[in-house]
Amino acid sequence: MAKFYVTTPIYYVNDVASIGHAYTTTIADILARWHKLQGNKTFFLTGLDENSQKTIKAAEEKGFKDFKKYTDEMSEKWKNVWKELNISNDGFIRTTETRHRKVVKEFFEKMYKKGDIYKGKYEGLYCDGCEGYLTEKDLENGLCPYHKKPPKQISEENYFFKLSSYKKKILEHIEKNPDFIQPKTRKNEVTSFLKDEVKDVSVSRPGKEWGITLPIDKEQKVWVWYDALINYISGSEGNWPAELHLLAKDILRFHCVIWPAMLMSAGYKLPKQLFVHGFLTINGQKMSKSLGNAIDPLYLKKKYGLDAIRYFIAREIPFGQDGDFSEEGLKTRLNNELANELGNLVNRTIVMVEKYNNGKVPKGRVDSILQKKLNLDKIEKQMKEFELHHAIAEIFSFVGACNQFINEKQPWKQEEKERGNTLYSLADSLRIISILISAFIPATSEKINEKLGVKAGLLKDCKFNKLKAGTKTSKGEILFKKID
Ligand code: MSP
Repeated sequence: MAKFYVTTPIYYVNDVASIGHAYTTTIADILARWHKLQGNKTFFLTGLDENSQKTIKAAEEKGFKDFKKYTDEMSEKWKNVWKELNISNDGFIRTTETRHRKVVKEFFEKMYKKGDIYKGKYEGLYCDGCEGYLTEKDLENGLCPYHKKPPKQISEENYFFKLSSYKKKILEHIEKNPDFIQPKTRKNEVTSFLKDEVKDVSVSRPGKEWGITLPIDKEQKVWVWYDALINYISGSEGNWPAELHLLAKDILRFHCVIWPAMLMSAGYKLPKQLFVHGFLTINGQKMSKSLGNAIDPLYLKKKYGLDAIRYFIAREIPFGQDGDFSEEGLKTRLNNELANELGNLVNRTIVMVEKYNNGKVPKGRVDSILQKKLNLDKIEKQMKEFELHHAIAEIFSFVGACNQFINEKQPWKQEEKERGNTLYSLADSLRIISILISAFIPATSEKINEKLGVKAGLLKDCKFNKLKAGTKTSKGEILFKKID
């Protein structure tokens, strides 16, 4: 049985989840569910990055004196959003948990013993938004390209990690494992960064107020990124190494340069793969709290229904690239693809089975021409290559083929036996469609199963002619309401 351990970044608790965060988490959820469908041993981890200076700022702004209390409250909010969005994570890690602190301490001690940590002074730029050290080269018109703010000039005593001594090893690893960083454009970005001068990086900052105390110096706290990355191990419940880290391009260097080097230094295995996707934008700008254009996924759910959002996330944007989010686009896909295509197919099929066969699936065989319209190998390949938008489009092209099949066969004009074959073809195809969409829009899949009177299936059940004749169908509610 293959293993699949997938992670999302752990999100900052200075605010609630936007549809931008939901984007990564939903894609991770789709992939995790897809692997579960394949029968793989799947572990899906998400969580919260709580030891940031942003936490203090946000807590103070909201009048909290007790920062832990603030993060406890925020953590409930984030967990609730994931529940509302039908996220099937197996693990949830908070960096204020004892199990996390323990692993961070051990991890640091391993690197320290290896001789990779030394005391020094950092003089340079720091972006509070990134919680990261920047150089002049990183800026665009003097501003951090992601937060559109000028970074601070800081000068402080830190402990440093000898990142520079790992640059060659990471380059070698990337060369030997061409799929380590996906897509290729991101891999090239990392390689060219590594080929340039790579400086050592601070792994602690002075301060006593909040965060994890550095094991070798009580006056220092572990730099929040150093601590955050280790969540992938502290939250892994024994599943390390991860098969896949998902993240957006804003945090590429932390994940593709610093993290592998930390793992090499501390003597851990590297993750198998990192996929770096683009930004969900609004009018071309990244959606984010700091830019003031974030959209609440729960607002969208209330207005359009959850599966419309999940479907849109998978279908609209070629995975990896940036893509503009618009409610107009969401509405169009809901009305045209979910309601008109899928909703109609389900409704027509169930109504005809009721009308012509007393709500029982008739005996029959699936039409051989219709069978050929489903290209399962192609869908599996697209999922494997992270072309989720193509995979869902391919599934929906089969939905379209089924609708067309009804129009061509005109069951209302057919003889009973012929009509039996037509209706059986449709019901059995729907059973398969329901399995395939279950990773993307699981609630819709469940509703279809209920209507068809079948249990949830696995990918291995996507073979035709497996539906039992006589299965009792039920009409139930319509799947999607169109929105004007
Ligand atoms: N706490 C760090 C991550 C530590 S992981 C060891 C962090 N947190 S964050 O809250 O800012 O989340 C950033 C991540 O959220 C992005 O890399 C991406 O996965 C997701 N996204 C947030 N907004 C997004 C968009 N507008 N578009 C796409 N992804 C978005 O960085």
